[in-house]
Amino acid sequence: MDQGSAQTTWAVLVAAGAGERLGSDRPKAFAALAGRPLLAESLERLDASEWIDAIVVAAPPGWEEPAILLTEELVSSKVTSVVTGGETRAESVRNALAEVSDEALVVIVHDAARPLVDDAMIERVIAPLAEGYDGVVPGLALADTVKRVEGGIVAETVDRGSLVTVQTPQAFAATSLRAAYRGTEPSDAPDCASLVEARGGRIRVVDGDLRLLKVTTGADLALVESWL
Ligand code: CTP
Ligand code: MG
Repeated sequence: MDQGSAQTTWAVLVAAGAGERLGSDRPKAFAALAGRPLLAESLERLDASEWIDAIVVAAPPGWEEPAILLTEELVSSKVTSVVTGGETRAESVRNALAEVSDEALVVIVHDAARPLVDDAMIERVIAPLAEGYDGVVPGLALADTVKRVEGGIVAETVDRGSLVTVQTPQAFAATSLRAAYRGTEPSDAPDCASLVEARGGRIRVVDGDLRLLKVTTGADLALVESWL
C-alpha cells in the first residue's frame, strides 16, 4: 500500500454498553432512533466522514451479528471489524484498539450513544494533533453553579471557570493512546483521555457541541430524535 492510500485515521466506535438507564429491551445501540438502531446514525456519519479511513465497532456481547448486518445494510465500506465489547467502556475500547492497524497515526474514539457527530467536530478534534498534543477532547463550559457535597451538606462551592464536561469524539495520536491502554489496567476509566492524562499526556480541549448529547434516558432519545 503506498503512502497516498495508507489508512492513517481510524475510528473506534464503542457501542457495547447495556443501556441500563435507558431501560430498553435491548442494548442501547439497538434501541430505535427515528425507526432504526441508534448505532446506525453515528456509524453512517463516521463512514461518510472524509477524515476517517477505517472503523472498528465494539458491539455488545451476543450482538456482533446484528452489528455486522447493520454495517452491510448501511453499506459502511470503512468498517474493518466488529469486536465483542468488554464489561466496561475502557475494556471495549481496548478490544477494538487491538484491531486497529499498526499503520494508524490517529485514532478517534466515539460513543455510539452520541448519534449526532459531524465532520466539523471531527475536524476540530483532529486538527490540534498536528501541534503535538497527545489527544484532543470536546468540552462544554458549565452553566450552573457547582458545589462539592459530602453527606448531603455543601463542603465547597467550586469555581466553575476552569471546569468543563467532556464529550466524544476524542482524537489521539495512535502511539499515545496505545501506550495508555498498554500501561494500565483500564477497567473503569471514565474516558480515554483520562488514561492518556494519567501517563502525563497533554490533552487539548476544543469547543464541544450540545448536540453531541449522550443518549442516557428516554428523554435524551426523544431530544436527539427531534434534532435529526
Ligand atoms: N460502552 C461500551 N462498553 C461498555 C460500556 C459502555 O462500549 N461495557 C459504550 C456505550 O455503548 C456508549 C458509551 O460507551 O456508546 C458510553 O457509555 P454509556 O452512555 O454509559 O452507555 P451504557 O453503559 O450502555 O449505558 P448505561 O450506563 O445506562 O448502562
Ligand atoms: Mg455505562
